[in-house]
Amino acid sequence: MIRLEGVSARYEDQVAVLRDVSLTIEKGKITCLLGSNGAGKTTLLKTIVNLVKPAAGRVFFEDRRLDTLRTHQIIQLGVAVVPEGRRLFPEFTVFENLRIGAFAERDSPAVRARMEELFRVFPILRERIEQLAGTLSGGEQGMLSLARALMANPQALLLDEPSLGLAPLRVKELFQVVRRINQERNMTVLLIEQNARKAISVASRGYVLQKGLIVASGTREELRDSPILKTAYLRCSPPAVPNP
Ligand SMILES: Nc1ncnc2c1ncn2[C@@H]1O[C@H](COP(=O)(O)OP(=O)(O)O)[C@@H](O)[C@H]1O
Ligand SMILES: [Mg+2]
Repeated sequence: MIRLEGVSARYEDQVAVLRDVSLTIEKGKITCLLGSNGAGKTTLLKTIVNLVKPAAGRVFFEDRRLDTLRTHQIIQLGVAVVPEGRRLFPEFTVFENLRIGAFAERDSPAVRARMEELFRVFPILRERIEQLAGTLSGGEQGMLSLARALMANPQALLLDEPSLGLAPLRVKELFQVVRRINQERNMTVLLIEQNARKAISVASRGYVLQKGLIVASGTREELRDSPILKTAYLRCSPPAVPNP
């Protein structure tokens, strides 16, 4: 479980980007964090791994304070990030990208075994193992970015807008894989999305962030009915067409 308590954050002299944010990412569950561009979603993710230091508040992973640790220590505790824009190494092969995901692991048979295990979930990556990451399709790159994070054998996965730029069918496939990993490995997942409808459909709970404030939260069903999610900006429903 990951918990934020009263977290505020700002960049240098700017106004607060996160304001008194409290939320819980339950162990073994998928929690979604929804919000439009600039709401503060990526900043929130960065406060969890202490890439942005909270100006106030505390962050916990189980009973451990994270906001007093360094980023590499937090990652060693088992928190993995799939960053916005995937950040693959385009000139490296699929194999090399996956190998980098297990950077802390020296034992190469163990790394290879983990890769084999992942190929069960991502068969397309086995087929493309020697291909340069930059030449994969968008959907395949999304899968590779996710698989690379899993190479570190994490307990919790933080996904920053993994659906961005993908066709609806590819988004569906990616989210199915996220769900499968969550179920098979009891993986704790934070799914950050603008694509509210799809994210809610795989999450058990969620939060809506607006200008750095949590403005709604609840179970999947509660969020589905939330008036905030009925607004067009979250791409939940198309904007109303005015009658001529
Ligand atoms: N490194 C940074 N330096 C200064 N301002 C930033 C930085 N990163 C993000 N911001 C600002 O913080 C706000 C929230 O950004 P971000 O967390 O990236 O939102 P989201 O991921 O929801 O789109 C935006 O106004 C953005 O311009
Ligand atoms: Mg972002």
